[in-house]
Amino acid sequence: MPAPSAEFQGAPGPSRTPGDGAGKTFVIETFGCAMNVHDSEKVSGTLVARGYRQVLSTEEADLILYNTCSIREKAAEKVFSYLGALKKATRNAPKIIGVLGCVAQQEGEAIFERAPQVSLVCGSASYTRLPELLDEMERGNRRVTGLDLDTDECFETELTRRDNPFRAYLTIIEGCDQRCAFCVVPTTRGPERSRASNLILDECRRLVGEGYREIQLLGQIVNAWEDPAPARLTFAELLGRLADVPGVRRVRFSTSHPRYFTPDIVEAIDSHPALCEQVHLPVQSGSTTVLARMLRGYTREQYLEKIDCIRRARRAISISTDIIVGFCGETPEDFEQTLSLLDAVEFDQVFAFKYSPRPKTAAGGMADSVPEAEKSERLATLLEHQRQIQWRRNQALAGQEFEVLVETFQPRHGQVVGRTSSNRIVNFPGTPDWIGQHMNVRVTSAGPNSLVGERIEAAGE
Ligand code: 5AD
Repeated sequence: MPAPSAEFQGAPGPSRTPGDGAGKTFVIETFGCAMNVHDSEKVSGTLVARGYRQVLSTEEADLILYNTCSIREKAAEKVFSYLGALKKATRNAPKIIGVLGCVAQQEGEAIFERAPQVSLVCGSASYTRLPELLDEMERGNRRVTGLDLDTDECFETELTRRDNPFRAYLTIIEGCDQRCAFCVVPTTRGPERSRASNLILDECRRLVGEGYREIQLLGQIVNAWEDPAPARLTFAELLGRLADVPGVRRVRFSTSHPRYFTPDIVEAIDSHPALCEQVHLPVQSGSTTVLARMLRGYTREQYLEKIDCIRRARRAISISTDIIVGFCGETPEDFEQTLSLLDAVEFDQVFAFKYSPRPKTAAGGMADSVPEAEKSERLATLLEHQRQIQWRRNQALAGQEFEVLVETFQPRHGQVVGRTSSNRIVNFPGTPDWIGQHMNVRVTSAGPNSLVGERIEAAGE
């Protein structure tokens, strides 16, 4: 593939010189989204390069890190209950404890008041400063913070310790500028910062060299990516370039915002078999009135036009979405509109949540008018409605053939489990040595959430 016309240097990665972590152990517990999972992989890599050894339990660890999520109140509170339990468990064996990620950014130094056993509070926009913060901790400082949000840097590091042997996460854009009324992300992850196309392509080539065949591009709003490099690639062009990297078998990307979802993305998927036939396009509500109050920047009709564009593609692109029920002022009629949108689109997967008011958001100041019991009822209704749709759609796949990347083996059933390009889960009889291989599978039956099949031939690898 052609190399980018000019190279663009991003921020240098942290030094590889081991610090004072030599001989110490750490554990990192991750909550929330794929971006958090990948951030934890980068933080782990940084620690290992300083001489720390990763362990799996808090008992074994000298340093305990929680990489937190604050998207809904329940998620944010989780870390405090973990910290409470830890306090009892570590009474006789003091540990160094750090809170990273979105709760760290949101609560800041208040965490030291609520959980005095914590020594490090660091938001994701400050991870580039981690080596320096670790230095401070290793020197014995017990109130170390990285809370600056005003950054134009991405967390560039080659020191990532990836957890999944098949699918490598690759961040292309950090932060978010959207300011959807319900969402904390702009205040917890800072402003949008896109990585340069040449750095992204270099990382992709490096990952392929390490043996990864599936690359998952990450960004809070992945398709808001804008190339800061002189090549000035569009997002769709970047997808095409990545799919053309020799050795890349699959490229996925999440999460897309409908506002930036343009027809050239669909054209790219149609013309590059390595781009997965899967789009995650959160709609949040089927009611234009609610969408306006959410500050989403599109109407129900405009969303449905995007869906039409995807459905007109030559490939059968599967579509998933996120929905919030019980947002401020959502009437029963608004909710009916969301149900009717499910019928109109027929998503392959829906992630649905009860609205949870968040601090420092536009909706935080609005009346949280839908009672909790009503939110629960709407959520249950929606999930059941969607379950029927998925079941029907999956059953219609019986007899069809898919290429499946085998990811795990279930000894109890003598089955392997893998994913199609469209991100459908397929179970089929197999053996553990099939893990990591791509295989052709014919669907024999289906449930609402997964397919059952049989192998028809090896698709090669
Ligand atoms: N309450 C409930 N769900 C939320 N989400 C984001 N903010 C909130 C909130 N305050 C959901 C949205 C988003 C997904 C990651 O989480 O559906 O797409």
